[in-house]
Amino acid sequence: MYVLGYTGYTRDSRVAAGVRSPFAKADQNFDTIFEFREGEVPFSMFPLGYFGHDASAALLKDGVVVACAAEERFTRVKYSLNLAGNTLLPKQAIAYCLRAAGISINDVDVVAHYCDFTPDAIRRRVALLRPCFSADDMGLVDESFHNVYAAMMSSHVVREQFRQMTGSLPSTFLSVRHHLAHAASAFYPAGFPEALILTIDGVGEVESSFLGVGRAGKITELRSSFIPTSLGALYLILTVYLGFKSLGDEYKVMGLASYGDPKRFRNGFGELVTLNGDGTYATPCLAKRDLHDELIRAFGPARIPGGPFEGRHADVAAALQEALHHAVLHTLAYARKETGLVDLCLAGGVALNCTLNGVIARSGLFRNIFVQPAANDEGCSVGAALIAAAQHGELPPPAATRWKHAYWGPEYSPDEILHGLEGFREQLLWEKPADIAAAVAHEVASGKVVGWFQGRMEFGPRALGNRSILADPRDAGMKDKINEKVKRREAFRPFAPAVVEEDAEVYFDMTGLRDSPFMLFTVPVKKHQRAVIPAVTHVDGTARVQTVSRETNPGFWRLIMEFKNLTGVSVVLNTSYNVRDEPIVCSPGDALRCLLSTNIDCAAVGEFLVRKRHAR
Ligand SMILES: [Fe+2]
Repeated sequence: MYVLGYTGYTRDSRVAAGVRSPFAKADQNFDTIFEFREGEVPFSMFPLGYFGHDASAALLKDGVVVACAAEERFTRVKYSLNLAGNTLLPKQAIAYCLRAAGISINDVDVVAHYCDFTPDAIRRRVALLRPCFSADDMGLVDESFHNVYAAMMSSHVVREQFRQMTGSLPSTFLSVRHHLAHAASAFYPAGFPEALILTIDGVGEVESSFLGVGRAGKITELRSSFIPTSLGALYLILTVYLGFKSLGDEYKVMGLASYGDPKRFRNGFGELVTLNGDGTYATPCLAKRDLHDELIRAFGPARIPGGPFEGRHADVAAALQEALHHAVLHTLAYARKETGLVDLCLAGGVALNCTLNGVIARSGLFRNIFVQPAANDEGCSVGAALIAAAQHGELPPPAATRWKHAYWGPEYSPDEILHGLEGFREQLLWEKPADIAAAVAHEVASGKVVGWFQGRMEFGPRALGNRSILADPRDAGMKDKINEKVKRREAFRPFAPAVVEEDAEVYFDMTGLRDSPFMLFTVPVKKHQRAVIPAVTHVDGTARVQTVSRETNPGFWRLIMEFKNLTGVSVVLNTSYNVRDEPIVCSPGDALRCLLSTNIDCAAVGEFLVRKRHAR
């Protein structure tokens, strides 16, 4: 049986001139996110808007993943947004999944979508927000919710849009509750027979968090958090307060937090995030009508996007990060005691917070932790599909659903790569070394910044050694060099290390972790190694480590081992293969265009080592 899961909504069918979603980036700042826009509600009350982002598709055959991919990789526009900031459906990602399985849409038995908006869900949403609005505003919000529901989110509209997108509508179409899709995306791929499951994001239909138990192939809910409580929403609002963009810039806050001291604003955050005796938390500030002014009163003026950083900004980020740690650990400690479960699964956008994940690992609360590599809504396509497969009794035992890797995207044959190269014959030269891994290790060891494009593309926002840019971690100046050559990131943001898993303990304090294959845990770099790998050691002595397994990525593993032979160090700097504000490269053409438009020194595309004819 084939099950297709997908994420995303589109408002294309109703888009009107001048109407923009909260994702419209151009004028987004701390003042404008609170403005009321037609068809929407103020940001603080509904921070992720109505409109799905991170459109993606996933295909299962008999309960086993065949392919998963994010639409942004094909459209080349980040987070699957179109130019007006509105979201798109995953048309190309679905086409890829079908191609990978060698089937057509008519062969799909079940389609599963990642949200379940019903009239009742909308009524509950309105009821939850009622105390937060004046009677006049509430009228607007109520009307707005119902209008958008009817135009975009009702199952009738969702199904019709699917039919228009694919030209077909399978007889079984399942709308899966959002947090259940997140929960499934973590539980089934974890491969644990039983586990505690926590999902945290901005908001689904009405929940911002879900706590449950996975056991015997089923997920049972313990309790959920409902808006206006939302750690994801609070984090997002403060991301914008700090002068970054919502949706995607949360990493920058995490990086900035390492420079700050949480003490200065600890009391302020104590009021923003409160902990309850029953293991729950609340964010009462999000229910306040004057949240904008209150945050400015508490922390000073918002940082203007692109403006200078003050110590105060880092201190706000540090206190926010600390408040997040306290709230999540509070929930987990309670649930661990309540259930006795020793294995943990995490998903939801907040589970991409590697610093938080590292703190959970080091807390000693759990024996094993699995974080879905596509913990954001991208992963809900596979989560929704897994729920559908479980309902149809299609899921194999946990050991067979376990993800050892996240390489579920497209791959390209040597012929396809050669064809891509031929298109750039005027600008590029290539050779076929006897051993591409050894050749690249040699380039990296001699200080080059090298594109590494191999095998199937990663699912989730991290490049894990198949669509990566690699460099020498021993050179303290490498961060600036990569930023100058290709990335152009803020100087405070760290780059990540990839280490062969056998040597992880040599460089990193892996307390509470067996491995970190998806680059989702921040861990301390051992003190005596910080000077050895300065380019991947953050200001606070930590690193967002990826452990590389010989079994799941033999080519990348061997590259690092060759680098070790040359240098004695079994770590390389691994950053995603893309330029700033573009999605990670998907096809050989994308990789070659990126090579040509930046100062990357060379790229290994499949078995070919590619250089520019004329250095820029
Ligand atoms: Fe979500």
